[in-house]
Amino acid sequence: MIQALSYLIVETPHLEAWVKQVRDHIGMHVEVVDPDQCVRLRVDQKFQRFVVTKTDGQATMAMGFEVADSTELDRIVNALVNDGYSVTKGTEQELELRGVDGMIFFHDPDGVRIEVCYGLADADSPFEPGRPIGGFRTGDMGLGHVALITEHFEQLSHLYRDLFAFKLSDHADAPFRVEFLHCNPRHHTIGLADTGGPAKVYHLMLEYNDFDDVGRAYDMALTNPDSIGVSLGRHINDHVTSFYLKNPDGWMFELGWASRTVGPDWEVEKLEGLSLWGHDRTWLPDDKREEARQILKRLAEKGVRAPVVTTNQTTNQTTKVK
Ligand SMILES: [Fe+2]
Repeated sequence: MIQALSYLIVETPHLEAWVKQVRDHIGMHVEVVDPDQCVRLRVDQKFQRFVVTKTDGQATMAMGFEVADSTELDRIVNALVNDGYSVTKGTEQELELRGVDGMIFFHDPDGVRIEVCYGLADADSPFEPGRPIGGFRTGDMGLGHVALITEHFEQLSHLYRDLFAFKLSDHADAPFRVEFLHCNPRHHTIGLADTGGPAKVYHLMLEYNDFDDVGRAYDMALTNPDSIGVSLGRHINDHVTSFYLKNPDGWMFELGWASRTVGPDWEVEKLEGLSLWGHDRTWLPDDKREEARQILKRLAEKGVRAPVVTTNQTTNQTTKVK
């Protein structure tokens, strides 16, 4: 069974811009593997959470999911092969770069590379953020969540739910069809969306421990408003308050705070929309954007609100209000 989203593998023609954004804006810890060619990015005590390599070709993003051990990895491989996927074993060099004990990969029906690994190592040195932030919420909830726009909604839903044993958290039909799926206490580790547009990676959500770190990232983004793909807002399902920052490859980082968790007693809901307020999706076609506005208006008229649950705030407060 998949336990968590563990890491991302990125190939980008814009390595320098990536490093600048993730270190100076988001606050990740950058470790150079090969100068001007390859970096590992950290957001916690793990050896890496991203491996970013320079390419002369197109930008790509692969996801690495973690299982408990080699037995679980074998089980996943069998399920994939029985379902017709072509699975390849990671090389020694690939394992070393990622800091994992074992890894396989395959491509999903949209062509996204998916890796499954076990034994992601801890780093030898403490996490040193690129700017003074209170860290990211990871642990048993994994790196965060990824939302994919897919042209193969049914096949991807089958892959995650039937082969990877993800469970449905909730789903929506408007402003477009979406399924949110979980594999640990994080409300969703994968979101699948059929917007009618071409398949692409929509975003990776990273969760700060502290709300002020979202606000400061938003302040920085406001100096370049075109970098904001989705305005500040709050999601109706995981209750994350966030905004979306475009990265140099055109997909986005959702920078959020205070997600709620799911447990065994979770009941699947059909959602009335995707957000409680805000989250103006500048990339949507005009009719869909207007539909989203109308949904927000209906929710506001009904007075729909959600509690804020803060379970994991950092304690290293540096400012005291007199
Ligand atoms: Fe999200």
